[in-house]
Amino acid sequence: MFSHLAPEIRIEAARKFGTPLYLYHADRIRFQYESLQQAFSNCDVRFFYAAKALTNLHVLRYVYSLGCAVDCSSINEIKLARKAGVPNNNILYTSNSIHFSEIEEAVGLGAFVNVDSLSALEKFGKRFGSSYPVGIRLRPNIMAGGNLKISTGHAASKFGIPVEQLNQVHALISAYKIQVHTLHIHTGSEIKDADVFVQGVRLLLDIVADFPDVRIIDLGGGFKVPYYPGEKGTDIHAVGKAVAELFTAYQQKTGRKLQVWFEPGKYMVCEAGYLLTTVNVIKENETLTFAGVDTGLNQLIRPMFYEAYHHIENLTNPSAPVKTYQVVGNICETDTLGADRELPTIREGDLLSIQNAGAYGFEMASQYNARFRPAEVFYKDGSLQLIRRRETLDDLLRTQEGF
Ligand code: LLP
Repeated sequence: MFSHLAPEIRIEAARKFGTPLYLYHADRIRFQYESLQQAFSNCDVRFFYAAKALTNLHVLRYVYSLGCAVDCSSINEIKLARKAGVPNNNILYTSNSIHFSEIEEAVGLGAFVNVDSLSALEKFGKRFGSSYPVGIRLRPNIMAGGNLKISTGHAASKFGIPVEQLNQVHALISAYKIQVHTLHIHTGSEIKDADVFVQGVRLLLDIVADFPDVRIIDLGGGFKVPYYPGEKGTDIHAVGKAVAELFTAYQQKTGRKLQVWFEPGKYMVCEAGYLLTTVNVIKENETLTFAGVDTGLNQLIRPMFYEAYHHIENLTNPSAPVKTYQVVGNICETDTLGADRELPTIREGDLLSIQNAGAYGFEMASQYNARFRPAEVFYKDGSLQLIRRRETLDDLLRTQEGF
């Protein structure tokens, strides 16, 4: 168990840097990484932190300092990882629907590359032949994940090459002598059921006999973390045990030793992050009490986009009698951050802490309603460090021409 960052530190961060504010707790990220290492200690495993969850350079640098490599979903994420000091042999690149020139650039930067379509594989073969090893992302037809928007391995998904098209994959490999070193799947985000990973491994171990150059099975990300109090996340120890057994049995049977890769995003950073927000307005109507805060769906889109639950605490009036609130944002749309929440009485000026904001929080923020994106602060080695300043009007104007 790892408890939340002490309320006093969160309050201090808000007082010092203002709100809305994203605050990340370094020790929590380390704890998450170490628990993954423990859970998979019987596997030949490598973890690549899925940078798309949170790309702040300080976080990337910290993650790499723990010994964790980085998974990138765009060429710019690779450039950020490089800027943060991550060497190319610790960078993996898995993208989709991109122009082939981006793949060429990723190769130029020396990253491990997974391709996601027959079209890209063919272009890869024509351009690089056997000179640069490549991974192939497959669509395994496994339905998994917290909701359809974040399910990526099912039969109607845009991601990966359908396993039904393996013949075409093999034809391209032999036509261009492509060296396929990795088979990759990512079935979705928030996969609670350890068995989904087992299904994925079974499927890939069945297929891998026809890929003599493959030495890596990449199972993507998707470990679930608890969002509701008392909720259970993925039992990573169960996944670790099952994966170790499957790989050991495979090695005993075939003599072939494969390494397993994972690309955890949420698992690494979600619980390390807090979105701190101040209550601007309390409004009562006939039946409901609204607490209107100084953030909104522009800064944390998950509640509205995925109907995601994010736990909310009242940091500055914690022992007051509990009432029911609709915690709503300040955007000119319905942006309920928490519906029907039982919270200690909220007063205007109180500071609320929205939990599980480390993954896909700041990263999915926008400037909608011409509001600024928040600042980011890292709590590390006992001190608070500003790692991204709050935007200003100049940031809204910077890319506009002719004024
Ligand atoms: N690898 C690949 C190829 C991915 O597409 C993703 C996530 C990951 C790894 C990391 O998955 P994670 O461990 O974070 O679940 N914005 C959504 C999640 C979208 C995930 C997209 N791909 C959310 O806020 O729930």
